[in-house]
Amino acid sequence: MNAAIRAVVRCGIEAGMTVYGIERGYEGLIDGDFVEMDRRYVGDILQRGGTILKTARSSRFMTEEGIARAVRNLETFRIEALVVIGGDGSFAGALKLAEQHGIAVMGIPATIDNDLGYTDITIGFDTAVNTVLDAITRIRDTSSSHERTTVVEVMGRDCGDIALYSGMAGGAEIVLLPEIQTDMSEVCRKVLESVNSGKKHSVIVRAEGFYLSSREVVDIIRERTGRDVKLVVLSYIQRGGAPSFRDRMFATECGVKTIELLQSGIVNKAMGMSSGAVMGFDLKEALQVETVFQQELYDSLDVLSK
Ligand code: F6P
Repeated sequence: MNAAIRAVVRCGIEAGMTVYGIERGYEGLIDGDFVEMDRRYVGDILQRGGTILKTARSSRFMTEEGIARAVRNLETFRIEALVVIGGDGSFAGALKLAEQHGIAVMGIPATIDNDLGYTDITIGFDTAVNTVLDAITRIRDTSSSHERTTVVEVMGRDCGDIALYSGMAGGAEIVLLPEIQTDMSEVCRKVLESVNSGKKHSVIVRAEGFYLSSREVVDIIRERTGRDVKLVVLSYIQRGGAPSFRDRMFATECGVKTIELLQSGIVNKAMGMSSGAVMGFDLKEALQVETVFQQELYDSLDVLSK
């Protein structure tokens, strides 16, 4: 997200704009936490994870009073366009401001879950998957030395992309996703089949939104297969650290494109990637695009892990 902020600030200033940062998202919008940012303000942040502007979930922005205060502050600071960096919830808030209050908005997609259907990637996803891959590589050493089955829990409440892609690239035997209610007998059968075929250990990547908890998964496999099963929960490790090349590039390009469109008077767009190109999509339409489950990828994991 910092790469996006940096690009918006520097390109905006270059275009003759005054750029304010709003701290803690919609919470700061309601409280009037606006800070003018110059070029130096965004120096040395490109390599940092998280966001220098901080972030917060805002229940107040769900209320009419909260929105009214936010709109008042935008008027007080004479803000002509609001750039929102976030996921579907943040974008829905932006759309509300646009449709109900005539505020010009732009969206930059940032969520490690990769759950915005209109764009091929979202900021943070690539870094998160690389972090999980690094963890799986390390976990494999113990897992194979001790001939264990290791369940690795990754983020993804409703969208299993982190689990699917890291499982695929990390050589996991099984991935458990929110999108598929995999039967545990099938999981146990696969674990035993892989042992019988000569595999010394197995790695199972479970997205946090899978219908059974990690604990339940571990207990069931242990009980039904007699295997030594360990659990590793990666949690917030996935949401931190220096962003990958791909994330920095995409975030930067989103910031550059945002200012380019604003300069042409084009507003209410969501930046995104399609066939390798970064472009602005209609915000309302973008929010309506459903994510497509990568069934073929999921099916091929089965073959590759045999
Ligand atoms: O960024 C999305 C996400 O990573 C989800 O996958 C996860 O469920 C959630 O955030 C957890 O974040 P928090 O604990 O901060 O609500």
